[in-house]
Amino acid sequence: MTSPKKLFIKTYGCQMNVYDSERMAEALGGQGYVETKTADDADMILLNTCHIREKAAEKVYSELGRLKPLKALNPDLKIGVAGCVAQAEGAEIMRRQPAVDLVVGPQSYHRLGEMEAKVRKGESALDTDFPEEDKFEHLKSRGKAKRAPAAFLTVQEGCDKFCAFCVVPYTRGAEVSRPATQLLDEARALVDRGVREVTLLGQNVNAYHGAGPNGDMTLANLIRELDKIDGLQRIRYTTSHPNDMGDDLIAAHGDVEKLMPYLHLPVQSGSDRILKRMNRSHTAESYLKLLERIRAVRPDILMSGDFIVGFPEETDEDFEATMELVREVRYGYAYSFKYSTRPGTPAAERPLVPAEVADERLQRLQKLITQHQREIQESMVGRELSILVEKQGREPGQVIGKSEYLHAVHIENARAQIGDVVKVKIVEAKTNSLMAHEL
Ligand code: SAH
Ligand code: SF4
Ligand code: F3S
Repeated sequence: MTSPKKLFIKTYGCQMNVYDSERMAEALGGQGYVETKTADDADMILLNTCHIREKAAEKVYSELGRLKPLKALNPDLKIGVAGCVAQAEGAEIMRRQPAVDLVVGPQSYHRLGEMEAKVRKGESALDTDFPEEDKFEHLKSRGKAKRAPAAFLTVQEGCDKFCAFCVVPYTRGAEVSRPATQLLDEARALVDRGVREVTLLGQNVNAYHGAGPNGDMTLANLIRELDKIDGLQRIRYTTSHPNDMGDDLIAAHGDVEKLMPYLHLPVQSGSDRILKRMNRSHTAESYLKLLERIRAVRPDILMSGDFIVGFPEETDEDFEATMELVREVRYGYAYSFKYSTRPGTPAAERPLVPAEVADERLQRLQKLITQHQREIQESMVGRELSILVEKQGREPGQVIGKSEYLHAVHIENARAQIGDVVKVKIVEAKTNSLMAHEL
């Protein structure tokens, strides 16, 4: 009997890649692979890559350079590149790094099995098509093993928005929503395997419009159906676009108890001039108005966002408008990035802000965001929150979980087990986590 082949997947980028890596591992599980935690003993290494900023894409080539010598140690080793760099650069990857045997774009993962058979025969395999067939139906999770209590579930993929800086519409393709019945089945299967919280994923998740039994469903409709699943205790979704925040979704935040009070709603800039140039089709004011409506139904909602600083032609005044917006919103979490030129996107042709100016703005913005973050963390002290316990802590008797607001919470001397949702009192705020006692 031959021993199973070993698969090592390294995942970069967004949560959708995390979900995709799980699906790929399951698909290759069907070809006799078991997962391993190190590249050293693998027979197949897959890098699931991200193309969003230049640094993210370059990381892939340096990692490939490091992995190449492993082929001399294990002649059976095959190396593959998946994800958004695979989609964007295709055959160029094999030219730049000939140690790569396989390149597969995000829309072709259901063909990974055939591709693996091909590379085992010593050929190379490349697939960056946007096929017609339902990838997700083919990749359906068939596992039965117990899972961690919090899981991702991709409900929508791709983007039609074409923000001037962004590669996603090119790497993930047009917006596609998965049918609601397929998703509800997958969610039920996850719950049977121990999942208590699902985070619905999509590049524009609130643009979801999947087929339901009585016509197309919105994200709010889907959330209300998920709400009916016994054993599923929490629902989240990410990432949303301000223009797709429908009235029914806002209403759901007011009355669906399982829907957590946390919303990642990227705004990118606080300057209308820059937003227009970014092709964002919302203004700072419309964003703030929207927030007002959300906070009217769910006053405690914790806001999270994304920012780009140093977008081409951003002036000091534009940047100050971003700082002003941040002061008004007070984000509990926010991710801010220096603009990175992506070849092929409309903004790539435009004059850049000097690097030192962009660096200085990024530092100022991050300082402000961190200050708000800390104040919000500290405001949790003394409050009673509910925690989904996700794992054991480092200390004996300690468990770690997430609050409604997605803060990491450590519980000392816990009775609670992994997968439990428990009430706690927050006793201390540390830099990256909260400490709590079980009630
Ligand atoms: N679909 C989401 C986010 C996609 S990418 C949305 O619409 O907001 C995640 C974040 O990366 C973006 O929100 C943006 O802030 C950042 N990003 C995208 N392209 C970038 C670029 N060229 N340079 C710097 N940051 C970028
Ligand atoms: Fe990119 Fe804009 Fe689409 Fe978000 S909405 S994925 S930033 S193009
Ligand atoms: Fe990166 Fe692709 Fe996600 S570019 S952020 S991995 S959609």
